[in-house]
Amino acid sequence: MVFAGILAGGVGSRMGNYNIPKQFLPINDRPIIVHVAEKFLLHNEVDLVIMGINPAWYQNMLDIQAKYLSEFKNLVVVKGGNDRNETIDAVIKEARRHSQDDEDIIVTHDAVRPFVTLKMISDNIAAARQFGVCDTVIPATDTIVYSDNGSYITDIPVRSQTYQGQTPQSFKISLFEQVYSSMTQEELNVVTDACKMFMLKGYHVQLVEGHVSNIKITYPYDYKVAQIMMENIKND
Ligand code: CTP
Repeated sequence: MVFAGILAGGVGSRMGNYNIPKQFLPINDRPIIVHVAEKFLLHNEVDLVIMGINPAWYQNMLDIQAKYLSEFKNLVVVKGGNDRNETIDAVIKEARRHSQDDEDIIVTHDAVRPFVTLKMISDNIAAARQFGVCDTVIPATDTIVYSDNGSYITDIPVRSQTYQGQTPQSFKISLFEQVYSSMTQEELNVVTDACKMFMLKGYHVQLVEGHVSNIKITYPYDYKVAQIMMENIKND
């Protein structure tokens, strides 16, 4: 089976003064998470969409599901975890209740990237099938500067070899289970990115082409940009 995991366990602390987590803020009168979910619910290769929601906002999500997504029977809402990987783990545990095939794939996606395309999802599914694990990226346009101390530059990687990570990140569920269970608590405390976990354990993580428009809403500025982008799409 092909699962989609919508990661919505966070509270959006960098957004500042909104009284709800950013994934529930409206764009064009519908919560951001509804825009995101529809991309996966309407994708013909995705069998089941599982949302991992911050436990404090679980009932809120059930209300949103009833109001905006009730026609979709292939959507399940579960409670997420304390960090992103824990939320992936919670989503995967739910996926395992539906299938235990070694070839099952999950396409994980941030609940705050509403401009993911059907092509990105298809490309992720194909790459996860072929390579086991993949990450969606775009070539870095700014020079990436590395500082291991937050004070001065300790490295400047060659720009043509640097990329910005987006989501989806996709993998065979059986591989995630192996990798996640082999992580020490110390490793889990520092590695918050699923693909970094795979890398740490020696896996080849295939690159999939993202797009500059696949923005993540992190700060109030991104929310404004997303509203304008959605308005432009509506008027196209
Ligand atoms: N996420 C998650 N479970 C967590 C923490 C984060 O599923 N325990 C999700 C977020 O809901 C978001 C995605 O991971 O969709 C990307 O994370 P980020 O942008 O950092 O979201 P938040 O953690 O909500 O934001 P902040 O770091 O500003 O608090």
